Amino acid sequence: MQTKPKNFDAVIHNEAYLDRYAGQPITHESMVSDAGRQTELLSGQWNFTVDQYDMALRSDWHLEETVDQSGRPLPLDYDFDRWETVAVPSCWNLARREYFYYESSGIYTRTFGYEKQNQDQRVFLKIGAAAYHAKVFLNKKFLGSHDGASTPFYIEVTDTLEAGNRIMVNVENRRQPDRVPMHNTDWFNYGGLYRDVELIRVSATYIKEFYCQLKKGSGFATMELRASVDGIDQNGQGTLEIEELGLRQTVTFQDGEVSAEIMVKPELWRPENPKLYQVKFTYGNDSLEEAIGFREFAVKGTDVYLNGEKILLKGIACHEESVLNGKAITEEEIIENFKLAKELNCNYLRLAHYPHTEKAAQIADRMGLMLWEEIPVYWSIAFENESTYRDAENQLLEMIKRDRNRASVVIWSVGNENADTEARYTFMKRLVDTARQADNSRAISAACLNDKIDLIINDRLAQHLDIIGINQYYGWYDPDFSKLEKLFANSSPDKPVLITEFGGGARAGHRGGVDEYFTEDNQRALYQKQVETMGRIPYIKGISPWILYDFRCPRRTNPQQAHYNRKGLLNEDKTLYKEAFYVMRDFYQQWQ
Ligand code: GCU
Repeated sequence: MQTKPKNFDAVIHNEAYLDRYAGQPITHESMVSDAGRQTELLSGQWNFTVDQYDMALRSDWHLEETVDQSGRPLPLDYDFDRWETVAVPSCWNLARREYFYYESSGIYTRTFGYEKQNQDQRVFLKIGAAAYHAKVFLNKKFLGSHDGASTPFYIEVTDTLEAGNRIMVNVENRRQPDRVPMHNTDWFNYGGLYRDVELIRVSATYIKEFYCQLKKGSGFATMELRASVDGIDQNGQGTLEIEELGLRQTVTFQDGEVSAEIMVKPELWRPENPKLYQVKFTYGNDSLEEAIGFREFAVKGTDVYLNGEKILLKGIACHEESVLNGKAITEEEIIENFKLAKELNCNYLRLAHYPHTEKAAQIADRMGLMLWEEIPVYWSIAFENESTYRDAENQLLEMIKRDRNRASVVIWSVGNENADTEARYTFMKRLVDTARQADNSRAISAACLNDKIDLIINDRLAQHLDIIGINQYYGWYDPDFSKLEKLFANSSPDKPVLITEFGGGARAGHRGGVDEYFTEDNQRALYQKQVETMGRIPYIKGISPWILYDFRCPRRTNPQQAHYNRKGLLNEDKTLYKEAFYVMRDFYQQWQ
């Protein structure tokens, strides 16, 4: 073992400074069902600094050692309460011009008071999302770290909280080849604490997981309930109440778990009538309450069914971003996006390429839109790397556990446009198996690549999927439209195909010849050819053009794009419709 040199200084010479934080991953296993719970928001103005050299971690700023052993004051490089303040939730990229392209560590901190309400109460900290990696400190203690930019994570803080508290979250958004997504994507790399941070108080024994949905294949007449509790009282009784259905059912837990099937005939949720029921579940003096829709989404042969009726998924793809707020998109902006989708005659959206805020599925439940939700296993992931797989799998399980009571969510996607190698096939099949095991009530899919040489849909991952997603850009990246016809003619899939992406760029307001790239006329002509071709293919059961509105994309540098991907049907702030919007709207009006 190499001894350290005599002049070794741990702060500046120790490149193993992260080792002491390894081994405390916060994963889906620490999630807490929080529907309808009273929470205390810690969102608001937090003190903040950029920390490119990871000084907070190298020098253990969280310990706040302000004097040396002899009590002499030390020269500090930080001053938590006099740092600038930023809003939580928000993306630091939009807080200041200097931070726009910032990709490194940011340190967030604030103080807050806490009063224990009763002796046996337990308290969890919930962080709605931190892009990409977060280390959480409370009252000078390191609580754990989380990977993944788009899913919530929970940490029990019962025994760490005091009357006066300081929380510190170190958020780091460096793009890395072994992350999920890896360092090369086609969207903007935002950073920060961009969803709410809150405290959740629960009973000593609390409801940890709660799943309540219609049981598939039960003739829409059986509800499936699965729940678990955490705490000393593992064999008590839970009560499910749906007043509007006159339902009050007691279930008995065994070793902290219960699974039950309950006969019931609810009014079924569907886009035209998004019926939701107030569902309450209690266990001892702990309770959850949430609005739940009951529906059955199924695949039979090459058809897609909702509540036993064949449907077409008339959709549009959408990133999670706005000009004003970046990824910290607001409820009003989500509602605006979903209203635009309905104006497009959509009944469905593809939320690309990562889990959007939980508010999106809650709003889609209310507005009557079906959703494809996806983890960012995007392009050339480090498929041979086991820790990358664990990161992807954890994000998948966090997404499923977060949204599995949402009627709007009908498809889980395990990835997008991944070139087929042995490592990719193994990695993604493992994810498909994990998703199916976690939730066999929804379709599992992925946006696959078509075979551009033999012009056929033949991704071997498709054999494990319920629905085949296909991205194709004929008329744009490949100008030869005749290949589109051949692709469909050569293919004979035995399950439904969703065209998960097609499209082309246009600068809103830029008019010209149909052969001139980035004119609305070119985009409109492309859409017309695409829908005319796809509308004739019987095994295409859904379409989600790329994309509802233009979005930030640093790789798009020519004047028409100006650091935006311009394939939107509207411009980036959604004030301008492009001609292709109307082509898609009219196609959906008559497509059946
Ligand atoms: C790909 C990819 C998208 C990307 C799009 C494009 O299909 O899935 O994320 O933005 O192409 O090139 O615009």
